[in-house]
Amino acid sequence: MKAVQYSEYGTPDILRFVEIDAPHAGPGQIRITVKAAGVNPLDWKLRSGLYRDFMPIAFPSGVGAEAAGIVDEVGDGVSDVSIGDAVFGLAVWRTAMAEQAVLTRWARMPDGMSFEVAGALPIIAESATRILDLVSIESGETLLVAGAAGGVGTAVIQLARHRGVTVIGTASAPKHGYLRELGAIPTTYEPGLSARIRELAPQGVDAALDLAGAGNIPELVEIVGNGLRVLSIADIDAPKYGALVTTSQGEHPEIALANVARLYAEGTFRLPIERTFPFERIAEAQERSSTGRVAGKLVIAMT
Ligand SMILES: NC(=O)c1ccc[n+]([C@@H]2O[C@H](COP(=O)([O-])OP(=O)(O)OC[C@H]3O[C@@H](n4cnc5c(N)ncnc54)[C@H](OP(=O)(O)O)[C@@H]3O)[C@@H](O)[C@H]2O)c1
Repeated sequence: MKAVQYSEYGTPDILRFVEIDAPHAGPGQIRITVKAAGVNPLDWKLRSGLYRDFMPIAFPSGVGAEAAGIVDEVGDGVSDVSIGDAVFGLAVWRTAMAEQAVLTRWARMPDGMSFEVAGALPIIAESATRILDLVSIESGETLLVAGAAGGVGTAVIQLARHRGVTVIGTASAPKHGYLRELGAIPTTYEPGLSARIRELAPQGVDAALDLAGAGNIPELVEIVGNGLRVLSIADIDAPKYGALVTTSQGEHPEIALANVARLYAEGTFRLPIERTFPFERIAEAQERSSTGRVAGKLVIAMT
């Protein structure tokens, strides 16, 4: 099968298309013929070597953590899906961008969901669900989301609104309409955030999520008044300021995936795809991702 790989850290031009043996589904796994695979910031961060000290990778490395497609092999012990079913899910670490991929966790695609949306959903559905749980956000509370216009923010806002939470999100001014459409109250991330939040939320903010990693954890802790309800997914220094950080998936991502699939089918969750790239243009997709300016998600469509 055709797959994308790289054999050293570097710029997007080190990505190579190679012919390799198709992987097989082990016990508790399934294999899919990939139709679409989501692009995440982690893809370019790993490739560039940015994370080489704490997430070193073995070469040659594949790319991608999530995909959607048609089941073509079912491992021992799997009984919830059959060959021919359309599913989306989390792939074996760094192997999703290939003609076939093995999934470790998955859910069925609901009617009406495109492969592009399905392929871009697993990471943000899992991450958003995990971090809302970790800050124990509840109905009636107010949540501040720093970096709310990207992929994870798009899911966080909608899932928090489903929980009855008021959401204030930071984004650059041109994306404030996008945040409002998702159900959040927008504000910019320029200096003076605390003062703006006091005006927008005179009742106070109960918890904050940092999705931007832009170095404002102390300010978020000050706004919330309790570091144990400030959580970052993008700043490993957050604990230095009394806040929390999370970097690994929860135990049951498949529950988050099935929940988002259900909400999507009901018409109460959506995922705007900023752009779909053909497989051959994965380098361009990673370049766009690395700008940190994506609204919603980028996705690779297999041809
Ligand atoms: N730890 C984990 O488990 C985990 C899981 C998933 C993702 N992540 C990480 O979480 C981060 C977010 O992921 P993502 O997929 O949502 O990224 P993304 O889609 O690339 O997010 C891009 C968004 O970030 C916004 N942004 C950039 N700089 C900002 C700033 N200083 N303040 C506020 N917003 C800013 C941009 O909005 P503007 O254009 O308006 O600036 C853009 O809409 C990434 O660093 C990713 O690697 C971690």
